[in-house]
Amino acid sequence: MINSKAEQLQVPEIRQFANQIENVPDAVNFTIGQPDFHTPDSIKIAGVQAILNNETGYSHNAGLLELRQAVASFFQDKYHFSYDPQTEIIITNGASEGIDSIFRTILNEGDEVILPAPIYSAYEPLIHLCGAKVVYLNTADTEFLPSPDRLESLITSKTKAVLFNYPSNPTGTILHKALLDELVAVMERHQLFVISDEIYSENTYSGEHCSFASYPSLKDQLFLIHGLSKSHSMTGWRIGFAMGPAHTMEHVLKVHLYNSICASLPSQMAAIEALTNCRDAPVEMNKSYKKRLAYAQQRLTDMGLDVVEPSGALYIFPSVKKFNIPSFDFATKLLHEKSVAVVPGSGFTEYGEGFIRISYACSMDVLKEGMDRLEAFVEDLK
Ligand SMILES: Cc1ncc(COP(=O)(O)O)c(C=O)c1O
Repeated sequence: MINSKAEQLQVPEIRQFANQIENVPDAVNFTIGQPDFHTPDSIKIAGVQAILNNETGYSHNAGLLELRQAVASFFQDKYHFSYDPQTEIIITNGASEGIDSIFRTILNEGDEVILPAPIYSAYEPLIHLCGAKVVYLNTADTEFLPSPDRLESLITSKTKAVLFNYPSNPTGTILHKALLDELVAVMERHQLFVISDEIYSENTYSGEHCSFASYPSLKDQLFLIHGLSKSHSMTGWRIGFAMGPAHTMEHVLKVHLYNSICASLPSQMAAIEALTNCRDAPVEMNKSYKKRLAYAQQRLTDMGLDVVEPSGALYIFPSVKKFNIPSFDFATKLLHEKSVAVVPGSGFTEYGEGFIRISYACSMDVLKEGMDRLEAFVEDLK
């Protein structure tokens, strides 16, 4: 009775582990993919005020024009690229819905989408639901950076799109300008779409975030995915932004309006506040993330675990290959023996095997306690 593609979907390993924690008293939870800060007060007040003012109906399908203008100004001011609020920006229900609407707009049965891996686990199921196929670009042996030559070798007549996610979930790596230049050169040579999920751009701690959108030559091929979930600690408000050239966004808008009508109006009002008066909120949060990341990296290195230095996002992705046990078993044992929950690297495709993902979206005290327990666990394994 069930659609076979839906039937084949698996519950992500992140969730499987998060669910197990409920049964482990006193667990340290390193699986969380959302900021541990509250949404800033003025954003919350804007949302409450919208409700009190009865701004609780539908908005324009693409989102409030005032919000689309605020999105355009934010990217223009900070990154110096421009999208037309009238025709090139859609406010979505979190970045997730934007990603799904774009896939459903461009993918036909049998198309291929290239994903550098290890990578966030939500793209593949959405691609499969469209009847398209994922082709992975291994980055595990290139410090989690996509090799332009390898990318080009994977492009075939079936390739419809390449998706990038930098700063990366789960590795925390970012793309530096020189590499971005090379990747853009590859993509310009081929008739394919580029989807860039830059939701962690505001959580960049060392180096600079360089966006695919800053290449005018790519504009006609590019979809840019963004949102406020991570930057402003607004995961539950469900506000994302999908951007792209007008001639493609008119089709994305149809898919979006049939599956959602529009994003929540009070959340959109709150988002205007976030992008106008609270632009510095991520700067404050980053001060804490940066300290925690440095601490976590030092502790892992002291334990003898190899780590590619992350520059952004909320995660660190050490190798546990030296213990010669699958990352799923490592994580299960760690949870049961030391009450620490991490996500096995295999949850981020087979190319994540041999690693674990630790989220430092938790207080310094929790981070310290978890690292102490992990250290004891690693000592026992040696
Ligand atoms: C890379 C990446 N993209 C998108 C999302 C989903 O974002 P949203 O909550 O805005 O739908 C996440 C959530 O963890 C993510 O890590």
